[in-house]
Amino acid sequence: MREFDGTPRTAAWIVTGPTSGIGYRAALDLAEHGTVVLVGRSPHKLKKVAAEINARPRGHAVTVTGDFSDLASVRRAAAEIVALDLPIAGLLNNAGVSPMGPAHTAQGWDLAFTTNHLGPFVFTEALVPHLPDGANVVFVCSAVEDPKRTSATLAGYRGGRYISAEAGLRGEWRPGGSRRPGMDAYATSKQCNLATVLEFARETPRLRFNAVEPGFNPGTGLGRDAGPVARLALRCVAAPLAPFITYWNTPKRAARMITHVLTDSSDATGVYYDEKGRPMPGSDQVRDPAFDARVVRETRTLLADIAGRPA
Ligand SMILES: NC(=O)c1ccc[n+]([C@@H]2O[C@H](COP(=O)([O-])OP(=O)(O)OC[C@H]3O[C@@H](n4cnc5c(N)ncnc54)[C@H](OP(=O)(O)O)[C@@H]3O)[C@@H](O)[C@H]2O)c1
Repeated sequence: MREFDGTPRTAAWIVTGPTSGIGYRAALDLAEHGTVVLVGRSPHKLKKVAAEINARPRGHAVTVTGDFSDLASVRRAAAEIVALDLPIAGLLNNAGVSPMGPAHTAQGWDLAFTTNHLGPFVFTEALVPHLPDGANVVFVCSAVEDPKRTSATLAGYRGGRYISAEAGLRGEWRPGGSRRPGMDAYATSKQCNLATVLEFARETPRLRFNAVEPGFNPGTGLGRDAGPVARLALRCVAAPLAPFITYWNTPKRAARMITHVLTDSSDATGVYYDEKGRPMPGSDQVRDPAFDARVVRETRTLLADIAGRPA
């Protein structure tokens, strides 16, 4: 981790997953607004992004290593950030994975559910007590959580398939889902992100919690599990078409929208923004406050339970 050099800054912005795709672009944009705290699992990649930002005239980045598939690592990263004692204005929970098939953490937990939901949940709860009033916490969600989103169902998604947090940890989803279990894992983890944002916004009005749907950004690292031919097609054919297709986007444009949402000085909280930065509704499930509260309650219970289990 690069030491904080004591340079006075008006604001600090935490970005998870800044080493690729949307998060990388958002980190560059947020560097225009103050110090950027880059949180990722690869010290080497983090160093490269930090060097790029620090080479700019007013750029200032610090790096913190944290693997979101490993909750102990997430807690260490949050503690490191608190120790930096920076004036944190916002947190962008962007890091995420989308495995095609069943994939597991070192503990045998579902990889997408742990990395996309449990990791950011633990990270956010560890930082919340240290955030000043009005700080904005933004989660990068996904419209594939909504079973009524036609473009997502055409791609094979069947919406979030939440049974319980404990079932998600085991990689179990509500029956009737996608033919690819990885799609159910991803959609459910993203539904949990959105439910978390909406419930946290209700619980903690002194802070702001908002969600963004960045649009379909072909060619980012998220499709790394697709075969080499599909990856090539995504990068070389789909990505150039993205600016012209409804719901499709480029990381540059998505990052601009996300930076706008994160840095805006309104008191908006509990808002879910689409790829153009317009408020959008989530699925029927997340629009039910009882569902959001259940996801948060069960996640907290699960995390307490995991903490008590022998390593
Ligand atoms: N691309 C889309 O179409 C799309 C659509 C809707 C939502 N999203 C969401 O947008 C976010 C960014 O996705 P992207 O498309 O920009 O994908 P990406 O290019 O693969 O970027 C993902 C970032 O997350 C990091 N990451 C992955 N696993 C991690 C872990 N265990 N610990 C810490 N960091 C980890 C990656 O780090 P490494 O560089 O080390 O791999 C990378 O920096 C994700 O939350 C995704 O679900 C994307």
